[in-house]
Amino acid sequence: MSQLRIRGGSRLQGEADIQGAKNSILPILAATLLTADQVELRGCPRLRDVDASIHILRDLGCRARWEGENTLLVDTRALDGCAVSERLMREMRSSAIFLGAILARCGQAELSYPGGCELGPRPIDLHLSGLRDLGAEIDDAGGVLHCKAPRLKGREIVLSLPSVGATENLMLAACGASGVTTITGAAQEPEIVDLQNFLSACGARVSGAGSSTVSVEGGRPLHGCTYTVMPDRIAAATYLCAAASAGGEIFLRGAREEHLSTVTAVLREAGCSILSDAAGIACASRDRLSAVRPVRTAPYPGFPTDAQAILMAALLKSRGATVFEENMFSSRYRHVDELSRMGADIRVSGRAAVVTGTERLHGAPVRCTDLRGGAALCVAALAAEGETTVREIGHIDRGYEDIARDLRRLGADIVRL
Ligand code: UD1
Repeated sequence: MSQLRIRGGSRLQGEADIQGAKNSILPILAATLLTADQVELRGCPRLRDVDASIHILRDLGCRARWEGENTLLVDTRALDGCAVSERLMREMRSSAIFLGAILARCGQAELSYPGGCELGPRPIDLHLSGLRDLGAEIDDAGGVLHCKAPRLKGREIVLSLPSVGATENLMLAACGASGVTTITGAAQEPEIVDLQNFLSACGARVSGAGSSTVSVEGGRPLHGCTYTVMPDRIAAATYLCAAASAGGEIFLRGAREEHLSTVTAVLREAGCSILSDAAGIACASRDRLSAVRPVRTAPYPGFPTDAQAILMAALLKSRGATVFEENMFSSRYRHVDELSRMGADIRVSGRAAVVTGTERLHGAPVRCTDLRGGAALCVAALAAEGETTVREIGHIDRGYEDIARDLRRLGADIVRL
């Protein structure tokens, strides 16, 4: 099993490119099914979750091949199935996103229930009730979802909470529904705007993404296109936090501050100097960071839950105490025990975690508990004295193309063994 060896204590200095966004490419790969055509996806990150999506597409009879480093060619003309096996569903928890696309394309779908994940239960009730609103019949007995929708019909769907996955799933299903679908209470994440842009490039009529109301005029035949995926805001947040915590000066090419302004606001409050323009984001961290006002995770444009562990790691050596409140997932503090092995002072009580900065952290053997928790261990290790080994890095590979390569470009002493 691979592991990362990190020698901490030195400041970062350098430039790195930001990979394409994991949370954009996954729904876009599902959306390729709507086209019955060829799609060229540029800036496609090489991730374990992307491989899992490619497996699903191939299992359904589609073709997918890499051209060069980050261009993926997908041809969905030969689709000949509408069922995704349990084995493939288990490879990636967000595979439920295929449901809306398969239903729209085939009029039926059979998927196993995604079940829980490292972050706690992962219900898809909002996905299912929205699809039922569009006319799908769904039988979810025995852990398998049998869905039938000979004719999906557009209408207003109200989401009781702004679920990213449900919004995306319903946008895809709505493309195959006759008439207009309006999703109110929609999630507003930048990745939903990226999905809208992709669908528009394929000829769909979608509007409103980025606001709480998304409209889809369905029933139009979609065609293939060439599309470049947006940069990954959480990968960018990770490297900003790495520089904030280890100190130094870095530049992240392609990162867009407008996508992570809540994260950069907190880093500025902690004492970093951050400048950005169309080319990317520069971050300089010269002194010991300060504690910041409470950080509460919330749907976009609030502070992203995916950056909670990473920011926590950056503040472990800050002056003072910072309160975190995790409001999105029930089990999202599993990295805390691992950070404690490195000398972190964190107390968890329900949704809250209080981080009291310590003067020193020390390297330790640690293991990843989940994707962003794993990235947080790397951020902490860079600011720790001595050597840290990070095990179970398969979690990190789900969302980072090559975290060791990127951090080395930024001057870190990190190798994959
Ligand atoms: C997406 C992101 C993930 C991020 C999360 C929240 C992808 C591939 N993943 O996940 O990285 O952490 O948004 O920003 O884009 N919920 C329900 N019922 C549902 C659906 C969701 O109760 O039917 C709840 C969830 O349990 C959770 C909250 O809603 O507490 C937000 O989940 P959601 O926005 O759906 O997250 P994902 O789309 O799974």
